[in-house]
Amino acid sequence: MTTENTTENTTENTARNTAGVRGATALVTGGSRGIGAVIARHLADAGATVVVTGRDVGALDRVLAELRGSGAIAHALPADLTDSAQVSELHRRVGELAGPVDLLVATAGGLGEPVQLVSMTDEQWHASIDANLTSAFFTLRAFLPDMIARRRGAAVLMSSTAGRQTSPASPAYGAANAGLLMLTRQAALQVAEHGVRINAIAPGTIHTERLDRLMPADARERVAAMHPLGRIGTPDDVANAVLFLLSDNASWITGATLDVNGGRIMT
Ligand SMILES: NC(=O)c1ccc[n+]([C@@H]2O[C@H](COP(=O)([O-])OP(=O)(O)OC[C@H]3O[C@@H](n4cnc5c(N)ncnc54)[C@H](OP(=O)(O)O)[C@@H]3O)[C@@H](O)[C@H]2O)c1
Repeated sequence: MTTENTTENTTENTARNTAGVRGATALVTGGSRGIGAVIARHLADAGATVVVTGRDVGALDRVLAELRGSGAIAHALPADLTDSAQVSELHRRVGELAGPVDLLVATAGGLGEPVQLVSMTDEQWHASIDANLTSAFFTLRAFLPDMIARRRGAAVLMSSTAGRQTSPASPAYGAANAGLLMLTRQAALQVAEHGVRINAIAPGTIHTERLDRLMPADARERVAAMHPLGRIGTPDDVANAVLFLLSDNASWITGATLDVNGGRIMT
């Protein structure tokens, strides 16, 4: 194979992998850090206009500078997605800045403290359910109507292995992530006739800055050994799966859950 052929093949493969993403407008919630920030970079690299959202304005500014620095068309808008009024305002402002959203990645959420059920306060329960599950509902409710009206769009909701099997995480986190999987299917069924697809990803343990803070290196090694493929995942592992599910390569996939967890779901 000549170098020229390799280049052509690579270009062809890239074009195929990014079909449906190149030129689209994508919103990434939880885009201010961690997995969401890396998903935003992958979408920008694939030629999407990207809007990132989160609550931390400083973190959003850093992500925005990185995206724009690499030539992307990108915007950042702060919002607390547990507040439906802020989500409605986010929808309005995204529309003004970037037009209707074609691709939605609902990554906002987080693990929280691993609290025992019998000692969990009302506040701890609601905080986890609201950040992980209710935020996805508010976001879908605000952004799906444009997709339905234009008969185009795809969404990915970020669940977790903790929504598929028991874990040391708080019961609220497990319940919220299991809820995300059913929300994915219910919503996917309702919008399928309008040509809109919704899927979920259930990541295993993913190496982010937050994980570095929460888990010392020896604990990370123990967790890595619990994944049959022998390592902790990376945000790139998740972003690759997101890009696939949003692209036209997944045009006949909806209501599905993709396990991105090094085989952990089998254990
Ligand atoms: N890392 C893992 O091992 C792992 C494994 C499985 C699933 N997941 C899931 O993947 C997602 C991202 O995880 P991560 O590790 O990247 O977490 P992270 O680094 O803590 O990032 C969480 C993101 O969610 C945003 N967020 C949280 N609450 C929000 C709210 N009320 N309103 C708006 N934005 C909010 C945060 O933005 P601000 O801080 O700017 O508000 C941040 O951008 C989470 O849903 C998590 O459950 C992670």
